Amino acid sequence: MTAALSNPNDYIFLHEQLLSHASTDAIHQEMMQLYEKKELQSNRNEYTDHCFGIGNLPSTLAVEAEITKVISDQYGALGKIVFSNTYARIYLADSYLKVHVDRPGLDITLSANIFMSEGVSWPFYYTTAAYNPAWDKLAYLPDSDDTHGVDLKPGQGACILGTKTAHWRKPIQCKPNDYIVQCFWHWSIV
Ligand SMILES: [Fe+2]
Repeated sequence: MTAALSNPNDYIFLHEQLLSHASTDAIHQEMMQLYEKKELQSNRNEYTDHCFGIGNLPSTLAVEAEITKVISDQYGALGKIVFSNTYARIYLADSYLKVHVDRPGLDITLSANIFMSEGVSWPFYYTTAAYNPAWDKLAYLPDSDDTHGVDLKPGQGACILGTKTAHWRKPIQCKPNDYIVQCFWHWSIV
């Protein structure tokens, strides 16, 4: 049974030291090998472009149990936390992520930075204001007291109630060959 959720903002967590160098290196290497072999899926859709990804990459599942423990401690009051899946993506120049909430079932989303080319920053934005469906697919929400941008470095992650807290990323400003690798872990609350 899912507990009543009075305030999703109580469930935004920033993890400054989530993944070890060994873990981010393993995910980065696995992603680049697949990218070079053209084995990643193009993720072009109405929310994003210029990115390629894959679900349940072995190196992302290798740390799942450890991360699920942390998430269960933080979100356990809301119900039983059940791991759903991971998705890793490489984002190239000009990529973006329009304003959205995650689809039903992806109740908890952890977005972690795995790798960024030197000198690149690509903040993860979210708002603490209650979600308004009119925001869906906007490029971004204007800066306000409610909007927050978190510049995650490799190994760091932001965790939110993805179906309740709107989030987005502005277009990447970087050189043509720069790229960013992100990984998402998702859980359901049952
Ligand atoms: Fe999302």
